[in-house]
Amino acid sequence: MDRDHLSFVGRVEEARAFLTARLPEPPELALVLGTGLGGAADLLSDRLVIPYEEIHHFPRSTVTSHAGNLICGRLAGKRVAALQGRFHFYEGYSTRELTMPVRVLALLGAKTLLVSNAAGGLNPAFDPGTLMLIADHLNFIPDNPLRGPNVEVWGPRFPDLSQAYDQELRHKTLAAADRLGLDRVGEGVYAAISGPSLETPAETRYLRNCGADAVGMSTVPEVIVARHAGMRVLGLSVVANVNNPDNFQPILLEEIIRETEACGERVVRLLAEVLPTF
Ligand code: HPA
Repeated sequence: MDRDHLSFVGRVEEARAFLTARLPEPPELALVLGTGLGGAADLLSDRLVIPYEEIHHFPRSTVTSHAGNLICGRLAGKRVAALQGRFHFYEGYSTRELTMPVRVLALLGAKTLLVSNAAGGLNPAFDPGTLMLIADHLNFIPDNPLRGPNVEVWGPRFPDLSQAYDQELRHKTLAAADRLGLDRVGEGVYAAISGPSLETPAETRYLRNCGADAVGMSTVPEVIVARHAGMRVLGLSVVANVNNPDNFQPILLEEIIRETEACGERVVRLLAEVLPTF
């Protein structure tokens, strides 16, 4: 395990060194663009696109719904690095491996993380198309990206998650949604499951009873690493489908992608309004 750990630290350092040499400027704001939300990278000006394959030791995306590009540029004067496409536990990666890009962006200097995803709604008040700002999370992925020896210069052994999702960033985002007159924007608890199978009706009922408002297969590992690194985090779930355990409908990936892409324009407008204030 120790050798494996040392090699992980070394790979992170090499990826950091590669990007330090390659990027025109260090990022201050990092974006993780989830399923159907990759188009938000078009908000950036002066774009430099680096495919993940070119970045030393970056994982490779195995799902077709996720492009694999690091896109650097400017948004209202802010230096932004966007991860267009992410990695998941269900692809076979450990959560330490799949969070490596976020770790590298933190080490490059990013102080704030916007992390987005497509999710299944559990709160009956949500409709498909609801934008849920993540207020808190439940981690049902049987792994933690910080398991193993702690790298003290990266963050503390036992990071506090009492305020994992920054309240001020959420308030700014709600205020921005108000200014734009966007409806169906709320807050809630995100539950991360390992996937890739979708939930059964009984699991859906269980997650709802646990206090979850939405469920998905990502985000929590990245947030744990970001908080470990001291970043402020805003999490945004696009509720693509709503799962009612008493009238359960099949959950189809094509529909998730279609609904999330249909929300893309609202998400982009919201991000364009709020990210400059972060
Ligand atoms: N369950 C899990 N992940 C998802 C869902 C869902 O219903 N919708 C989008 N991602």
